[in-house]
Amino acid sequence: MKKSLFVALICAALVGAFILPNLFAAAVPGEIMLKAPDGVKTKKAPVPFMHKGAHAAYQCTECHHTWDGKGEPQKCTACHGAKAHKKNGKKVLDFKKAFHKQCWTGCHKKVNKQGKHAPVKCNACHKK
Ligand code: HEC
Ligand code: HEC
Ligand code: HEC
Repeated sequence: MKKSLFVALICAALVGAFILPNLFAAAVPGEIMLKAPDGVKTKKAPVPFMHKGAHAAYQCTECHHTWDGKGEPQKCTACHGAKAHKKNGKKVLDFKKAFHKQCWTGCHKKVNKQGKHAPVKCNACHKK
């Protein structure tokens, strides 16, 4: 095989493997900190969150429940703010209840009944 053809094939393979998929899917961040909305006085430390590991087993929209799959999902706190409110007749939880319900009571407590070891103690999530 000619060297230039070989190089071209490698380039095409790299484009196919890395660049094209990223045009369609938002890049998934590694460890991020889950924080209260700006301006809210907090009592607990922010919560580290990993998309990798156990969380990678779930569909994006199980957590980013309003995301249409285009661009980046919005932050939870864009909708779940400091106070609960109503939208189209539905109750939109404040950020604390939204995170606690989705992460803690809605998921970790349930999967632990199936033998997993997801954090459920206050300080296991709110690390000091
Ligand atoms: C599964 C993880 C998890 C567990 C367990 C958990 N929290 Fe949270 N909590 C969060 C996340 C995520 C937020 C939203 C981000 C933030 O404010 O740090 C939050 C927010 C809060 C807030 C509002 C923000 C603040 O700091 O004032 C309080 C208060 C709070 N949690 C208290 C508690 C207490 C008390 C417990 C135990 C009884 C607890 N949490 C257990 C994940 C958890
Ligand atoms: C287990 C729940 C969960 C799953 C599954 C999940 N995410 Fe997330 N993701 C979160 C949380 C929580 C945040 C933090 C949002 C915030 O700060 O309000 C986040 C943040 C993000 C951010 C950064 C957004 C920002 O504004 O900072 C991107 C991008 C993202 N996720 C993409 C994805 C994609 C793509 C998938 C699927 C491959 C995915 N996530 C799956 C929970 C999840
Ligand atoms: C674009 C706005 C928007 C974003 C972004 C958003 N939510 Fe919501 N969320 C809503 C609305 C509106 C409702 C209430 C209507 C409904 O149940 O669909 C809701 C409902 C919920 C509920 C209650 C569901 C139930 O079973 O009662 C939880 C928990 C929740 N969101 C957590 C989250 C978390 C965690 C994130 C970020 C990963 C997030 N939401 C991102 C708008 C949003």
